Amino acid sequence: RERTYIMIKPDGVQRGLIGKIIQRFEDRGYKLIALKMQSATTEHLEKHYADLKGKPFFPGLIKYMASGPVVAMVWEGLDAVKTGRVMLGATNPLQSPVGSIRGDFCLAVGRNICHGSDSVDSAEKEIALWFPEGVTQYTSALDTWVFEN
Ligand code: GTP
Ligand code: MG
Repeated sequence: RERTYIMIKPDGVQRGLIGKIIQRFEDRGYKLIALKMQSATTEHLEKHYADLKGKPFFPGLIKYMASGPVVAMVWEGLDAVKTGRVMLGATNPLQSPVGSIRGDFCLAVGRNICHGSDSVDSAEKEIALWFPEGVTQYTSALDTWVFEN
């Protein structure tokens, strides 16, 4: 089963949206296998967004992400990476459909409240970066009701 790294950014935390964002993934049937709140260092965030180094918005992005604690999570389930991104919406909230997290809760690309891995490969790297201690493993009582087998 696929895993994705989902993060509530500092604005999502400050705006009191932690519960709502977690609820959506739970409601959909995804299983939470790792969770922590953390104030990330600039060095850590530069590693997380390494592929964006050189973009004009990069310094602002790092400052934004370091402006307060984030909630780091790993969610597991069918097609978690792609469907996770669909649930978040587009990078620019103005292009996010209503019903998506960004489409319902934010307006500005530089304050878009959440992050989701963009591929299985980056999910693996991001999970290793944010959870070097590893993730949990457990059988959810819901599994037989959420999945066919
Ligand atoms: P993440 O899930 O956060 O990785 O977003 P994404 O994959 O949809 O977009 P991308 O990885 O390209 O950009 C990472 C983050 O940088 C975005 O979520 C935005 O917060 C920010 N960002 C991207 N493009 C812009 C931009 O043009 N202007 C500003 N101010 N921020 C941007
Ligand atoms: Mg991205």
